[in-house]
Amino acid sequence: MKIGVLGSGTMGTGIAQVAAQSGHEVVLADSNTAALEKAQNSLKVTVAKLVEKQKFTAEEGEALLGRVLFTADKKAFHDCGMIIEAIIENLDIKHQVFSELESIVSPNCILASNTSSLSIASIGSVLKFSDRIIGIHFFNPAPLMPLVEIIPAVQTSEETLKKSKEIIDSWKKITVVCKDTPGFIVNRVARPFYGEALRIYEEGIADFATIDWAMTHIGGFRMGPFTLMDYIGNDVNYTVTETVFEAFYYDPRFKPSFTQKRHKEAGFYGRKTGRGFYSYQEGAAVPEPKEDAALGTEIFMRILAMLINEAYDALYLGVASRKDIDLAMKNGVNYPKGLLEWSEEIGLEKVLSVLEGLFETYGEDRYRPNVLLKRLVKNKTV
Ligand SMILES: NC(=O)c1ccc[n+]([C@@H]2O[C@H](COP(=O)([O-])OP(=O)(O)OC[C@H]3O[C@@H](n4cnc5c(N)ncnc54)[C@H](O)[C@@H]3O)[C@@H](O)[C@H]2O)c1
Repeated sequence: MKIGVLGSGTMGTGIAQVAAQSGHEVVLADSNTAALEKAQNSLKVTVAKLVEKQKFTAEEGEALLGRVLFTADKKAFHDCGMIIEAIIENLDIKHQVFSELESIVSPNCILASNTSSLSIASIGSVLKFSDRIIGIHFFNPAPLMPLVEIIPAVQTSEETLKKSKEIIDSWKKITVVCKDTPGFIVNRVARPFYGEALRIYEEGIADFATIDWAMTHIGGFRMGPFTLMDYIGNDVNYTVTETVFEAFYYDPRFKPSFTQKRHKEAGFYGRKTGRGFYSYQEGAAVPEPKEDAALGTEIFMRILAMLINEAYDALYLGVASRKDIDLAMKNGVNYPKGLLEWSEEIGLEKVLSVLEGLFETYGEDRYRPNVLLKRLVKNKTV
């Protein structure tokens, strides 16, 4: 099957590489010829590196590049079986291109969007045959991150879901299916990793380095929240939080932080600007954490309990299956364990008691324990 990718930016180029590596003929289109040129050069460099690392031979590398057509003309999509859109995150522009795509492709061509924050139902609303719309959400960098979230909208047919999942599975990705709800699985369930860490800092309980130390050394996470926010970029990470907060009708669980907002406003985006929560200038002092085991455990348990609460909320509301929620967090954001399996390892009673303690102390809706978690504990102890 020929695969179309619209948008040759960060995500589109990565998705095109994954599809071509899996043997597909790929059409990669962009309205901006400079972006196309950049994509072509970057794919050449990537393939050369992979040949050097002996991931495949020089001939295979050449063949891979030969399978990708770079074009500014969307008409080249006419014989594609699936198109994945990865253009700018703007609903009006996405509507225009989806209408245009439908006039070019055959009626059974799957039309997918890689959107992170728009609803798939809203994107598909402009289609005549809207049962072919689906969300196919890759993570950055697409060739390296194993997870892909597959999001059927209310319009999506079983056939579209089945075919899309088969295709992405055949690209050796780990697919999870989730409801068309804000943040899908990963960008929803992961919010407390950042939000609760920021809140702990704002309350003066600990500094950035100590919170990061608690999450890595006690919690076993690969990166602490502040190191990770600096890595993702405070501009990007703040915007995701704000979007999820608005999309959940301002649920206080997702409330953004002034600390992160100010860092964003100051241009302290993180690694890419040389300064975020930490400084990345040459010779900058690395702040030392306060290695206090009791404090570290309290920080870790508070953030983990909030993450687990979010995972139970997603499970309770049918966003995804238990298995898929755990797979998503392990493979989309490299968590050391799935949150639901982790909750059982620690004991649901313990998790609930941390949440109840926070709820009682602060009296804020943000800390309300999920009803499924409460029920499971109650049923166990009855
Ligand atoms: N960057 C990420 O980490 C990430 C992760 C997952 C999903 N996404 C989603 O993927 C999509 C693309 O993100 P990105 O980071 O690759 O963006 P990007 O800015 O790197 O690339 C977007 C590309 O789309 C092109 N474009 C814009 N309007 C177009 C049009 N009308 N027709 C054709 N091409 C057009 C631009 O020229 C640009 O090359 C967005 O929907 C985003 O939410 C991004």
